[in-house]
Amino acid sequence: MNIALLGYGTVGKSVAELLTKQDIGITIKKILRRPGAAAGPLMTDSFDEILADPDISCIMEALPGKEPALGYIRDALRAGKHVVTSNKAALAADFPTLLSLAKEHNVSLLYEASCGGGIPWLENLKKAARLNKITALSGILNGTSNYILDKMDTEGCTFEEALKDAQALGYAEADPTADIGGFDVYNKALISCSLAYQTPICTDFPVCGIEKLTKEILNSFHAKSKSLRLMMLSVRKDNHYAVGVAPVVLPSNSIEANVHLNYNCASLTGDLVGELKFYGQGAGGYPTADAVLQDLLQIRDNTAQPVCLDQKLLYDDGLLTGTGYFADGKILSGKSLAELTALAHQSNVFMAFEPDPA
Ligand code: HSE
Repeated sequence: MNIALLGYGTVGKSVAELLTKQDIGITIKKILRRPGAAAGPLMTDSFDEILADPDISCIMEALPGKEPALGYIRDALRAGKHVVTSNKAALAADFPTLLSLAKEHNVSLLYEASCGGGIPWLENLKKAARLNKITALSGILNGTSNYILDKMDTEGCTFEEALKDAQALGYAEADPTADIGGFDVYNKALISCSLAYQTPICTDFPVCGIEKLTKEILNSFHAKSKSLRLMMLSVRKDNHYAVGVAPVVLPSNSIEANVHLNYNCASLTGDLVGELKFYGQGAGGYPTADAVLQDLLQIRDNTAQPVCLDQKLLYDDGLLTGTGYFADGKILSGKSLAELTALAHQSNVFMAFEPDPA
């Protein structure tokens, strides 16, 4: 199978390296780079050239941010080419339409690497949703923010030092605002909830980041044997669901509080299977490239299953309630995450959320 690679950053380069190391019957025919950066026999700065090449049956998209990636994905699907992408921002911007477009043109759209790096999270979520009613999702789904929280917690680094390290290690987005502001987790939560509940997800759900976190705040939780992790939280009850992203207060001996460095941990609860947890490296070149290659193998073998968002669930932010701990000392209980997040944004202070027990 001949593919074209769009983008040659951490993920694109690692995919190219792994395909050189292992002969799995997949050949890179072209690599799209930005004008001025395309040097080398396979490289081009023209997406149209790739689109018009009948020998390229699959596009692997690993560009940063929503555009131009989203336009390229749409064009590739319309041209009858399969697409594998690691780009959560592009996917989350138009997920239901992209799935329909793939179906309409009888091609596969696969995106395991978009959520949880090397963890086979989405594939297992899709499998669980075939038989189970998924009643809850939660997860640490951003390697950069986890790395920052862990380094501040265990080594006493400052926020800035830890972020710089995460960037040097290739975990952070080109613009790390999305990592620390919770928007990267927002994209991953939207994709995960769509697959879990098989419905188009409301795009306006609460997002609270860790950008205002200080060592003093972290220490105050530590003193109470609590830790913080930036997480997606989601609950479903009958035909309603809620979802949000926030720094979550956890007992220091919980599984999630002991997820270190760039690792992620995502959980689902199904009515038949109960709780399942998936753990592994959520960011970084080779783990993410492994997820990309797994998708490419499915396309090579024609084993990808289409996804349908044909359920009609309603968003209800009242399903996700708990206590908000604000950095100015305020503690508010029995509120929805949406209310607490709005308050944190209004007053411009850090807020950590402790969900009410299920
Ligand atoms: N910047 C992302 C993260 C990369 O830190 O998790 C993987 O999606």
